[in-house]
Amino acid sequence: MAKLPQILACVLVVLGFALTSSASIYIVGGSSGWDVSTDLNSWSSDKKFNVGDVLWFQYSSSNSVNQVTKESFEVCNTAKVIETYTGGNTTVTLTKPGGWYFVDGNKLYCLGGMKLMAEVENN
Ligand SMILES: *[C@@H]1O[C@H](CO)[C@@H](O)[C@H](O)[C@H]1NC(C)=O
Repeated sequence: MAKLPQILACVLVVLGFALTSSASIYIVGGSSGWDVSTDLNSWSSDKKFNVGDVLWFQYSSSNSVNQVTKESFEVCNTAKVIETYTGGNTTVTLTKPGGWYFVDGNKLYCLGGMKLMAEVENN
């Protein structure tokens, strides 16, 4: 029969695993993906993003994912970007708390709503 310390150790291991494996993977925009037809604002409005979560962008080759500053996000400045991703299948891990901002490389699409703000919390 297992002794109490062994049972406690087991509980701690299981608990630790549950805590460290809590990162979520979000397919941005759901089934319609990173697209100008997707209502990204309402997609993100009910999400709670935490450090360690992953944003998975799926998009056509004519689009791109650009991480930008808040300022660029607000005015859809697609010329001043932090990071550009292309290829249609991009994962971005949210490595730190704060605001993460993404816009499409096509300014008109961005103005049409193809942009995403994720307010990331430290669990
Ligand atoms: C897209 O990226 C994911 C995660 O990096 C990978 O598992 C998957 O195989 C990729 N899909 C395609 C079609 O490249």
